[in-house]
Amino acid sequence: MTPRDRAADLAMIRAGIAAGTAILDTARAYAQVDAPLYGEELAAEAARGTGVIVATKGGHSRTSANTWDADISAGRIRSDVETSLRVFGGERLELYYLHRVDLADQPVEEGMSALAALRDEGKVARIGLSNVTVAELERATAIARVDAVQNLHSAMGRESAEVLAWCEASEVPFFAYSPLRSSSKAPRLAAMAAARGVSRQRLQLRALLESSPVLSVISGATRPETVLDSLAAESEPWDEELQTAYEEDLVIKA
Ligand SMILES: NC(=O)c1ccc[n+]([C@@H]2O[C@H](COP(=O)([O-])OP(=O)(O)OC[C@H]3O[C@@H](n4cnc5c(N)ncnc54)[C@H](OP(=O)(O)O)[C@@H]3O)[C@@H](O)[C@H]2O)c1
Repeated sequence: MTPRDRAADLAMIRAGIAAGTAILDTARAYAQVDAPLYGEELAAEAARGTGVIVATKGGHSRTSANTWDADISAGRIRSDVETSLRVFGGERLELYYLHRVDLADQPVEEGMSALAALRDEGKVARIGLSNVTVAELERATAIARVDAVQNLHSAMGRESAEVLAWCEASEVPFFAYSPLRSSSKAPRLAAMAAARGVSRQRLQLRALLESSPVLSVISGATRPETVLDSLAAESEPWDEELQTAYEEDLVIKA
């Protein structure tokens, strides 16, 4: 995340943890060049002693304000894991992703083998792959177990439909990032939200959560209000009327 006010950022994350956040998601690539460990350091501080899992990622970092590298070579992944271990001050990272399988020059096998070795050494508890295709998941699982997938997915996102189906068949947790992307102002959902006295985004997340038993959402926020509102999606009632409004407003038919 972009450094703003450290105390305010920490308070926002802690508010989310107090309200039931189970997993914090961070990465080197989200931070600025002059503070590359900001997000990981903040997540480590907020999660310490709470039991909340922090997921972080390697093989992708910012090289200037608007550029990033992508490198899932064994040396780079090992070096990124060692850096994260220092930040978290522990002996093991709970969930570690190859961040940009799609952009790296190396084949997925190279980064996957590196993470499998790190898991065997006890330095990584669970392996995740982010921005992957079904073909890459098949190749990666030929090397070792994949514990989580994180891809772009929202009501309008058909690009991860096949990956989500693979995760369902393989019983692998799927984390949808940027879940609130939409191409419409969602008038039906907005009207339903006004009637229920909740936000349109809460209903949108609730309907997305209903779409698959293995799907969780990674909702981004810069304000405590949106963190708490998105968390409340989990307990928001779902019914056919919500489903119909969601599909008519947002779901782009294949
Ligand atoms: N693996 C990857 O390559 C990758 C790439 C991109 C993102 N991610 C992960 O996915 C997370 C989310 O992605 P994202 O930030 O692009 O998308 P997002 O969650 O779809 O959208 C975030 C935006 O939606 C707003 N928002 C969130 N919940 C809301 C609510 N209940 N009501 C109203 N507005 C709400 C936030 O507002 P405020 O700012 O006002 O709080 C923020 O501007 C990131 O933080 C990151 O951890 C992963």
